[in-house]
Amino acid sequence: MAIDTREIHLARRPHGLPQDEDFAVVTRQLPDLEPGQVLVRNDYLSVDPYMRPRMNDVKSYIPPFELGKALDGGAIGTVIESADEYIAVGTVVSHGLGWREHAVLRSKWVRVIDDESVPASYHLGVLGMPGMTAFVGLFDIAAFKPGDAVFVSGAAGAVGGLVGQFAKLAGASRVIGSAGSAEKVAFLQEEFGFDAALNYRDGDLVGQLAAAAPEGFDVYFDNVGGDHLAAALETINDHGRMALCGTVSSYNATGSQTVPGNMFRAVGKRLTMRGFIVSDHEQRRAEFEQQVTAWLQAGELTYRETFIDGLDQMIEGFRGLLTGANTGKMVVRL
Ligand SMILES: NC(=O)c1ccc[n+]([C@@H]2O[C@H](COP(=O)([O-])OP(=O)(O)OC[C@H]3O[C@@H](n4cnc5c(N)ncnc54)[C@H](OP(=O)(O)O)[C@@H]3O)[C@@H](O)[C@H]2O)c1
Repeated sequence: MAIDTREIHLARRPHGLPQDEDFAVVTRQLPDLEPGQVLVRNDYLSVDPYMRPRMNDVKSYIPPFELGKALDGGAIGTVIESADEYIAVGTVVSHGLGWREHAVLRSKWVRVIDDESVPASYHLGVLGMPGMTAFVGLFDIAAFKPGDAVFVSGAAGAVGGLVGQFAKLAGASRVIGSAGSAEKVAFLQEEFGFDAALNYRDGDLVGQLAAAAPEGFDVYFDNVGGDHLAAALETINDHGRMALCGTVSSYNATGSQTVPGNMFRAVGKRLTMRGFIVSDHEQRRAEFEQQVTAWLQAGELTYRETFIDGLDQMIEGFRGLLTGANTGKMVVRL
């Protein structure tokens, strides 16, 4: 029986914050399965900041989204039809064909989720790409060691909230986070156990950082770029290490971007600054999953999700992610 399904296409390249007109919700019929394929009903879809730069027509580490085609991204779903003898109907899987209600794909492109100890949606966050980003970025890229003081920006988001908690669990002397509201600042300290937190919208980032970290900090995990990177360059300790993870403050920018004017601080302070892309670090997946599962099972990690319900709300949810409507991981629930 032919099934109608809906998916979201990129209709126009956004200028600034994405508008409804930049997208089209398209209904189409699902094709019959070919041998080795599965049909997945998507239950949870991910919206992630990196999707915004992918909507621009620029060369990057990943090709831009194509106009007139369905967007893609992380998704968790249930197999409802299978032409692969090894994947039974009812299996829960994660895969990369998000932004749509159903996905037809070869079984080698799905990852079976057989762990029922946590909600399936956790595999889009703490046990998925953002969690692994926090893990690799902190422990490998920033070369965190016990006793380090750590500052993380975007701290109330999916990656940042985990960076701060991983650092505390691994023996950080102090963890400081920045976020965009008084509620998030309180949340960071009360729920995620940060030692100090600051609201960047209050201004004077350098002054606020100096007050939050009187003895400075050794690691900066940068999710934001721009003013945050400039303030971290001013306040980080000599020989500090910076993991350059993202620059979310620039993703909707329409003009040219200026690099921090105080880059020479990196020279005088003998800093190590290293960018990274999590997908280059697949070899760390087993250790990441083992460690984070252990922390979750021991109740040592606080995990938070913000849900948006329905494909019709996905564009609004994506905008909300880029403007701070989320605490923890933003997830679209179908
Ligand atoms: N390198 C990699 O492989 C990799 C992998 C995953 C993610 N990332 C990067 O990691 C960062 C965080 O991603 P995520 O998935 O965890 O997203 P997220 O932090 O859950 O969501 C994005 C957050 O960005 C903040 N934000 C928006 N505009 C801002 C601005 N102008 N200044 C400061 N903060 C702003 C908002 O929080 P506020 O309310 O606090 O403003 C919003 O909640 C992004 O830069 C992303 O691109 C990199």
